[in-house]
Amino acid sequence: MSLTTDFIVIGSGVAGLRASIALASTGARVTILTKDKARESNTEYAQGGVAVVLSEDDDAELHEGDTLIAGAGLCDEEAVEILVNEGSRYIRELIDWGTEFDKEGGKLVFTREAAHSRRRILHAHGDSTGAEFVRSLIARARLEPSINLLPFANTESLIVQHGRCIGVRYLDPILRAPREVVARAVILCTGGAGQLYQHTTNPPVATGDGMAMAYFAGAEVADMEFVQFHPTALSLENAPRFLLSEAMRGEGGILRNLQGERFMGRYDERLELAPRDIVSRSIVAEMRRTGSRHVLLDMTGLDAAFLKTRFPKIYETCRVYGLDISKDQLPVSPASHYCMGGVRTDLWGRSTLPGLYAAGEVTCTGVHGANRLASNSLLEGLVFGARAGEAAAKDNVEFRISNFEAGKSENVSAVGDPRLSISTAVKKRVKRAMWERVGILRDEESLQRAITEFEQIAASNLSTSSRNFVTLALLIARAALWREESRGGHYRTDFPEPSEDWKVHSIQKLGAEIRSEEKIDPSGEAAATRAL
Ligand code: FAD
Ligand code: SIN
Repeated sequence: MSLTTDFIVIGSGVAGLRASIALASTGARVTILTKDKARESNTEYAQGGVAVVLSEDDDAELHEGDTLIAGAGLCDEEAVEILVNEGSRYIRELIDWGTEFDKEGGKLVFTREAAHSRRRILHAHGDSTGAEFVRSLIARARLEPSINLLPFANTESLIVQHGRCIGVRYLDPILRAPREVVARAVILCTGGAGQLYQHTTNPPVATGDGMAMAYFAGAEVADMEFVQFHPTALSLENAPRFLLSEAMRGEGGILRNLQGERFMGRYDERLELAPRDIVSRSIVAEMRRTGSRHVLLDMTGLDAAFLKTRFPKIYETCRVYGLDISKDQLPVSPASHYCMGGVRTDLWGRSTLPGLYAAGEVTCTGVHGANRLASNSLLEGLVFGARAGEAAAKDNVEFRISNFEAGKSENVSAVGDPRLSISTAVKKRVKRAMWERVGILRDEESLQRAITEFEQIAASNLSTSSRNFVTLALLIARAALWREESRGGHYRTDFPEPSEDWKVHSIQKLGAEIRSEEKIDPSGEAAATRAL
């Protein structure tokens, strides 16, 4: 049985909620399908804050410059300009909608994070910025009667007919049966894929489904090799890799090895506030040098009362594990955190498949290049979520679904059993191989071995979810093998330097060899096929 709506948005993080609000403001009916409860997303767990140019000593050019440096030569400058110039408008709007950022004496307070030349990070409730975003965006979305949110609706494939995405197939949460919804356009806002790795800061929903669905539907994905590893996740046996925000180092936290030495000076003059990829690799080097499984984050030089109010969530969570952040040195090690790569889009969220749009972490707009600047991602979700919603509404005013044939799709991923979630065995094998062979340090041999293993898994009889999962691992490993240099989040021990020849983006498409492009924005090529 199929349902019809005007627009489908998949995912209820910052990008999905903001895109839905933009669509609803045009009077369109919007159906949000989301995998778990409405609040569950990477957005909900964002700690450090949102980078935005609002303080008196800051300007958009400085924010742009910091973003470009972090992106290691692969940012799309136009995309970055949109982010830094439009960002403040969207944050002001969010404040008007009731988002409560932390203030002192009635003024917004800004913190600092790695690789930012100014204090420009707004935060909420100390270290619960993402939860405040979700709270206020859900409250705002509830004011729109044309938005209908379906929780626990796991989407597994896109419906493609006559070369256009016209809907999705999802699992009805009550009937446990596959269902189809068709619409004028679909906006993917399914977030990242941290769960591909054994150690991650991401919640269980972050399995990268949207990237795999888009790929199987025929859309291009870009820069999949660039994965960001956050340097400081809590590292305790049998405990999740809970994030210890970069803002802790921004406020003066120090990294020490198990001998108590402050070691970052050996690796980078910016010390603890060097870009994330450098801090993560330095920690790995130090762990290897000292034969340890973690290093220590030392906050003991800061005032206990300040720490308790500045990082209340982190303080409480560490307490549960018997650690007092004002007295104890905290065991930390890197964990997978963010995907710079994803569905290739133009600056309005249009993918290369007509009818399919995308926004947020699931995309590659070129805004982050080879490495994302801390706290740029909540801002990206707002700015590009709104733009994708606006573009989808405008582009598809006249489109009508005719001759939709239920149960039929040109999308080959529709063949697995959609009722099954990712098998535990597949998850375990993929996560381990990704961590050990496609992780912070990679080389040709490790990547070849990972690819062989993933190809074996992919050749077996899999559910749609399992196939999506292993395919995404393959896309990352193949791109990492293809890129014979080191840049940003991608570090090849056999090619440790960046190379001018590789200042290009990797593009992958179903049925085609991996290829390079100078620009992420596919507007030129896609414009012809986008005509209704
Ligand atoms: P998400 O917020 O991840 O939302 C994705 C949505 O899609 C979810 O609702 C999910 O349930 C749904 N979904 C996924 N698959 C499916 C499916 N198959 N069917 C239906 N629904 C699906 N960034 C910052 O800028 N500042 C920070 O301080 C910061 N801190 C972070 C801390 C942590 C612990 C983590 C994990 C990330 C942090 N980030 C931070 C990154 C940032 O939170 C994310 O990149 C951003 O929130 C992504 O937003 P999104 O809307 O694209 O995706
Ligand atoms: C953090 O608080 O360290 C995470 C910030 C981010 O990922 O942008």
